[in-house]
Amino acid sequence: MGDMGRGIVAVEPGKRRIKVGVAGFGNVGRAFVELLVERRELLDSRYGIDVSVSFVADSKGVLARREGLPWSLLALSLKVPRGGVSGLEGGSPGMSVEEAIAATDIDVLVDVTPSNYSRPDPQLKWYRLVLGSGGAVVTADKAPLATRCDSLLTASWRPRLFYKATVMAGTPLIDMLRWGFSGRIVERVTGILNGTTNYVLGLAEEGLGFEEAIRDAQRRGYAEPDPSSDLEGLDLAAKAAIISCTLGSPTTLWSVERRSVVNEEAFERAREAFSRGRRVKYVAVVEVGKGSFVDLVEVSKNSVLFNVSGAMNAVVIRSSEAEEVTVMGPGAGRKATAAALLSDLVLAAREVS
Ligand code: HSE
Repeated sequence: MGDMGRGIVAVEPGKRRIKVGVAGFGNVGRAFVELLVERRELLDSRYGIDVSVSFVADSKGVLARREGLPWSLLALSLKVPRGGVSGLEGGSPGMSVEEAIAATDIDVLVDVTPSNYSRPDPQLKWYRLVLGSGGAVVTADKAPLATRCDSLLTASWRPRLFYKATVMAGTPLIDMLRWGFSGRIVERVTGILNGTTNYVLGLAEEGLGFEEAIRDAQRRGYAEPDPSSDLEGLDLAAKAAIISCTLGSPTTLWSVERRSVVNEEAFERAREAFSRGRRVKYVAVVEVGKGSFVDLVEVSKNSVLFNVSGAMNAVVIRSSEAEEVTVMGPGAGRKATAAALLSDLVLAAREVS
């Protein structure tokens, strides 16, 4: 990826050509490519973005064309089983994302690989390659930011790093905190930020068993590949860390105190609370500049969190200037996450030139 000719090529006045690389081709990666195929004309007509996909990569290899993959081949890639994209004509089994980045001159890397908190290094390397050469990164992967936001959200890289898909999926909370609250002092963000646990605690109220409820959340595409990340609060801690980083207080998920987990006992508690007209919610609390924690709390009908059901998320934002702001919306699911990525791609296209 050279600096020469990087980024936005004026196809015709007011038009920009954006070359995208997609790392990760599971549930969300495929949903993103599907949405891109469906919306590429809208991106062109409404935003003047002529988008092409230079590569898609899964765990086994890469399918790449420097000049952009034909849309028909991309449509075909959506039909192959997991780990199969490099088996398609012109694919490169064994090729790494790093090699694909070097070979294709992309403007925007879309990272939809699963969040691996104990080993975020490969992704960090990709980000440094792309951001370091003037490109942009759009990510749904929480691990790089939740572990190393101090080195990623620097003055020069922050404007080209888009990550609203990492928190509240289809609800643009991060945009609101990044831009909507500019110049203000946010003191605390508190709320339900994990769709899986909110969904399964709701099933507990209906009397469903723990294992069965988790299988249901997995089937719906809410849960992480390893659902213990959801149940033990790692996913919530990562989101708390990303919120704190966004609000100018760099931290990592490892410093978020995890006070409780969602297990059989929590299921019992949720059922019992529900019988008394109350609900148990698994929340994250970010006290900006002071610390964050994850905990199970019981809420009454008077709480705005009481009516947040299923995979919905909601947060209450307290600032020093005005009354609290509540944001509610979808927090998990392949389509909601893909929509957040598409929106960030539109924002990224403005920044790479
Ligand atoms: N597993 C996550 C959740 C996905 O349930 O909220 C969205 O980050």
